[in-house]
Amino acid sequence: MCILIVLNGQNGISNELGSFLPIRTTLKSHSINVKQVLFTRLSVTKSLITLTIAIFFVVNKDIVDIGLKIEILHLIYCYFCLSMLNIQENKNLKSYNSFSLEVFCTFFVEINSIEDFLSLLKTEVYQNNTKLIIGGGSNILFTQNFEGIVIKNNLKGIEVVHENNNEIIIKAAAGENWHEFVLYCIKKNYYGLENLSLIPGCVGASPMQNIGAYGVEIKDCFFELEATNVVNGEKKVFKKEDCEFGYRESVFKTKYKNQYFISSVSFKLNKNADLNTSYGAIKEQLDVMKVKNPTLKDVSNAVIAIRQSKLPNPSEIGNAGSFFKNPEISFEKYKELSNNFKEIVSYPLPSGNFKLAAGWLIEQCGLKGFEKNGAAVHSKQALVLINKNNSSGKAIFELSSYVLQKVFDKFGVTLEREVNII
Ligand code: FAD
Ligand code: EPU
Repeated sequence: MCILIVLNGQNGISNELGSFLPIRTTLKSHSINVKQVLFTRLSVTKSLITLTIAIFFVVNKDIVDIGLKIEILHLIYCYFCLSMLNIQENKNLKSYNSFSLEVFCTFFVEINSIEDFLSLLKTEVYQNNTKLIIGGGSNILFTQNFEGIVIKNNLKGIEVVHENNNEIIIKAAAGENWHEFVLYCIKKNYYGLENLSLIPGCVGASPMQNIGAYGVEIKDCFFELEATNVVNGEKKVFKKEDCEFGYRESVFKTKYKNQYFISSVSFKLNKNADLNTSYGAIKEQLDVMKVKNPTLKDVSNAVIAIRQSKLPNPSEIGNAGSFFKNPEISFEKYKELSNNFKEIVSYPLPSGNFKLAAGWLIEQCGLKGFEKNGAAVHSKQALVLINKNNSSGKAIFELSSYVLQKVFDKFGVTLEREVNII
């Protein structure tokens, strides 16, 4: 009896060959000789051939040991999944980061199902390399090429988990585009996410920094998320209280940093009218639009119009939204600053501290529109750094350090970067 498994080594996973050795040994101990083992990303035809081989094993009378049959089938299944992964080498990430920076990663793979991710976990190329999970790449600054494997989350699907007359729990796969998901909810008349219209990126990244805009953060509608441990593949459900959401914060940026692959996020949305138009700019925009009794769609349109008036569109000008967080300061520091700078833009917090508009601080340093080495402070919103003229990640990072220093020198306030620096 002899087995011929032909899988063709390519795309940086040929070193996986070594991991087939134990299988070869097992088969040999059953007097089955493995002629050849190679790897491939299977085409449809090859997939069918693999399945045919699998069926052949099940019906083959020479193999009487049922346990062995199951083992072989399992192995073929695992390698079938693995071979569906297309691990690319030396991939240009220009279209995978919203700064449009031409940087390269050693390995790149797109994940289309959770099985893909579990198969990836077993590969040596995954185990032996630094990992970076990405969605839309709209909150990342690559300061250099990425020596490791970039895992692009491409999981798709939206499903209703539970509903009654008043509310609905809706689950979106992590690779769904955030804005399209928001539009989907608006179309269905589910209230809650409309103020978060037009935020770039994917659903899976939304809990990472508890995305927020115009008086709403995702924690307000968040129900739970499903994630897979990036080391042992164990699935875990995170409820709202597990996520420790804060202003641009969650456990996924702190104690569980780089430990979980988020595969889906569920939101609890309202079926009855429940709009949040408390944010000043929304009211003003609705007035401009001459809308007196806004609908869900009106609020979304107002938010879209405000955003388009000041934030650069990443498909035209590379950027990652606000580069810094709005800093929080003590009441004492606030008193000192507001004495010296009467116009300071600030918001009182329930704790007694104050939040400052970092955009205002940067503008007061005379930096609006400031440009160096192709990197610039956006002229319509000083909190946004842009790739104005074929800049590099290093130059954008250096500009951010310069901004930090200037703001500190003038106000004694230290800004914190919001964008993930790679
Ligand atoms: P990425 O940039 O791909 O990843 C961000 C981080 O999340 C990385 O650390 C990455 O490793 C991690 N990650 C991504 N997906 C997963 C996953 N499935 N599992 C585990 N880790 C993961 N943000 C706001 O909060 N409010 C705004 O108003 C806002 N406006 C913006 C406007 C513009 C023009 C731009 C360019 C950005 C803006 N952002 C805003 C920032 C950005 O859109 C959000 O942070 C968004 O959630 C990032 O999604 P992404 O899929 O692009 O994440
Ligand atoms: N301001 C200036 N000059 C500027 C920019 C802002 O003086 O160049 C002052 C203005 O007084 C303005 C105030 O700052 O009224 C606030 O500005 P804006 O409404 O644009 O909001 P922001 O505080 O700069 C935050 C978020 C945005 C979010 C908006 C709307 C952070 C770090 N940024 O920006 O989020 O869309 O509020 O809610 O909290 C992002 O995270 O990427 C992002 C874009």
